[in-house]
Amino acid sequence: MLTRIAPLILCLFLLSTIIYAANSPNGNLQVHAVTGNNNASIFQCWEVNPPFSISQQAGTVGAKIQQLGIVQGASVVFFNEKNVTYAGLHPAPSPQWVLILAGGGTVTLPTNNQKLDIAQGSIIIASDTANVSELGHNSDWVPGTIAVQLPFENGFLNHTVLHNGLCNF
Ligand SMILES: *[C@@H]1O[C@H](CO)[C@@H](O)[C@H](O)[C@H]1NC(C)=O
Ligand SMILES: *[C@@H]1O[C@H](CO)[C@@H](O)[C@H](O)[C@H]1NC(C)=O
Ligand SMILES: *[C@@H]1O[C@H](CO)[C@@H](O)[C@H](O)[C@H]1NC(C)=O
Ligand SMILES: *[C@@H]1O[C@H](CO)[C@@H](O)[C@H](O)[C@H]1NC(C)=O
Repeated sequence: MLTRIAPLILCLFLLSTIIYAANSPNGNLQVHAVTGNNNASIFQCWEVNPPFSISQQAGTVGAKIQQLGIVQGASVVFFNEKNVTYAGLHPAPSPQWVLILAGGGTVTLPTNNQKLDIAQGSIIIASDTANVSELGHNSDWVPGTIAVQLPFENGFLNHTVLHNGLCNF
């Protein structure tokens, strides 16, 4: 059975590779974003520009590398105490990357029942600032979560919105 479907799988794989390669040889990073739309927070799937490249830098030669754009005022947050892990409804402080180094959590929205489960090691975007979503989103972290916040300089990150709702991964 496996030997019969193996060529089919290989064909599908090559086809998808070719379709993807037409856009960018190394692909683009896709991330879940919580963003503002009509004064409410929604989830979107963003593709970050430029695409991945293959690093030529000493120390990372040959690895896939993604530019995160220009950031400013980076910080790291330690959700150590259990009483600080549930933020309640709040907008993003600025349009920013959020990298979850340890722990994890859940983001929910007041306007629909979609839910983003965030595992340790995730990279997400929070850009639902008060001027685009007054209420914002809820975040609930596991005690011990460590999160790095990287605000985009001037609020700008070059990206393409693939679709509304979470990414399909
Ligand atoms: C934005 O939404 C909030 C909360 O629902 C509401 O109080 C506020 O009036 C809205 N602002 C605008 C400009 O519609
Ligand atoms: C955004 O990225 C695309 C693809 O890498 C590039 O063609 C475009 O010039 C960039 N736009 C800005 C404003 O940097
Ligand atoms: C959380 O509890 C600690 C004591 O464990 C206390 O010092 C701190 O003020 C509390 N923080 C909040 C936001 O309630
Ligand atoms: C909303 O405010 C952010 C800064 O918090 C800014 O980067 C962004 O351009 C503003 N958006 C609009 C639509 O005014």
